[in-house]
Amino acid sequence: MLATPQEEAPLGNARTRQQFKKRVQTHFSKAATSYDAAALLQQRVAEHTHLLIPPSQVFSRILDVGSGTGYQTRQLRRRYPNANITGIDLAIGMAQYASAQTPCHHPIHWAVGDMECLPFQSDTFDLVYSSLAIQWGELSHVLQEIKRVLKPGGLFVFSSLLCGTMVELKTAWQQVDDESRMNRFKTLAEKQQVFEQLHMPLNHVHRRWETLFYPSVRAMLGELKALGVNVAQSPARGLMTRHKLNALGNAYEVHRQPQGLPLSYEVVYGQVNTR
Ligand SMILES: C[S@@+](CC[C@H](N)C(=O)[O-])C[C@H]1O[C@@H](n2cnc3c(N)ncnc32)[C@H](O)[C@@H]1O
Repeated sequence: MLATPQEEAPLGNARTRQQFKKRVQTHFSKAATSYDAAALLQQRVAEHTHLLIPPSQVFSRILDVGSGTGYQTRQLRRRYPNANITGIDLAIGMAQYASAQTPCHHPIHWAVGDMECLPFQSDTFDLVYSSLAIQWGELSHVLQEIKRVLKPGGLFVFSSLLCGTMVELKTAWQQVDDESRMNRFKTLAEKQQVFEQLHMPLNHVHRRWETLFYPSVRAMLGELKALGVNVAQSPARGLMTRHKLNALGNAYEVHRQPQGLPLSYEVVYGQVNTR
């Protein structure tokens, strides 16, 4: 079954949340070997996320939350060769892949775990970095954990997604059937509110749009599958039939531009200093 990506895992009941996390683990683990080749957007976003780390600041303990294949964690390793660096991901397949890609002369600690319940002591890290991952958890839980593991004066830099993300795909699906394949993404104001409630004031925040283009809906969905992001919070009840795929393709055509079918991402970048 093909589902479309989800964001901002809603609180739901404990069982629903556990089931969702299982699916996240399975999808991302399966995608570990295909992810990097498909991750054009993710690499572009990560480059901007890295710019939020002040060049003159030195860090001794760094955590990458939702580290995936470890591509960005290894960038951090190159930038901070003397730091103790840990990458954590819920998907064991991702952590195994990341570990296999890491040269032993540049060690990184790889952990399998949930960003809503980080397996680290309080006041451990002076930099927590996370690119396009925190939206997979319940934001308030994730931020509480990040705040807990950061040392006083520590820095959190992140990128995440906002409500305009994949709006074309969402609109096209609405023409096909009434299944709610895609969750609602938080707005910037909603995200900022969660930070404020947790006394984590954003000392820098900005938003940037990114658009990718595809020759067809089939190519677009194939790439989302290769990335592992085709995880549904509430999976569609019916199977994806050829008929539905054709209907989706037809509905998407109104968005076509000379470069192809657009898929937009509304990305937020932020930086928080703990006191
Ligand atoms: C879109 S990928 C981003 C990976 C990497 N940061 C990058 O920029 O390429 C999101 C990652 O978050 C991980 N993830 C999802 N939910 C998680 C959770 N609750 N705890 C830890 N990692 C999680 C997924 O397994 C996946 O590897």
